[in-house]
Amino acid sequence: VKISVLFPAAGSGERLGRGPKAFLEVGGKTLLEWALEGFEWADERIVALPPGAGFTRPGVRTVVGGPTRQGSVFNALRVASGTLVLVHDVARPFVVRAAVERLLQAVRGRGAATLVAPVPDTLVENLHHEYGETLPRERYRLVQTPQGFERELLWRAHLAAQAASTEFTDDAQLVISLGHPVALVEGDRRMFKVTYPEDLLLAEGLAQVWEG
Ligand code: CTP
Ligand code: MG
Repeated sequence: VKISVLFPAAGSGERLGRGPKAFLEVGGKTLLEWALEGFEWADERIVALPPGAGFTRPGVRTVVGGPTRQGSVFNALRVASGTLVLVHDVARPFVVRAAVERLLQAVRGRGAATLVAPVPDTLVENLHHEYGETLPRERYRLVQTPQGFERELLWRAHLAAQAASTEFTDDAQLVISLGHPVALVEGDRRMFKVTYPEDLLLAEGLAQVWEG
């Protein structure tokens, strides 16, 4: 089957405070280049860029992103031709091949799957800066990308969300809102999302020892 990988890369990187993260460099390469390299094997790669950003690379298609992550994925999805679609945040530069293989196997069997990671710390509700209720962390997971779906399923989910004007932070929620289950697959902590300034230090360190 043909596999398309969609890269939402159109965010403004507000929490990091250094402009659009796609073009930030780590270990001498931009986050966008790192993410693309992790999926060189794919049949098709489509990047949703910040409006006005220039980026060309042989074999990589580009579209203009939307005002939200969901909008950016939608713009890429509408031109995707694969039977299966993976969606991967460009803000996650380190792509662990074994985790992607696990994901693909689940997508082939179940139609929809996402990588997840365990919650390392105690999870507590913030009650106006006082310690509230703790959640049993073993029952929760941190959601990573890539997430994978049959293209038709993800497309229907995006159309439904658009019709209902609902906005989600990932694609799994879209598919679940259609009533279709999404399998959880063990991800990898190295696939963390570069979100805050200190994450860049971690990424620099990892880039030095990365072997792909
Ligand atoms: N993204 C996108 N289009 C948007 C917003 C986000 O393609 N309108 C992408 C980002 O480029 C990123 C991924 O979605 O690869 C995850 O988003 P996030 O980590 O939140 O990145 P930003 O939105 O750029 O960061 P912030 O929320 O701190 O502004
Ligand atoms: Mg964001």
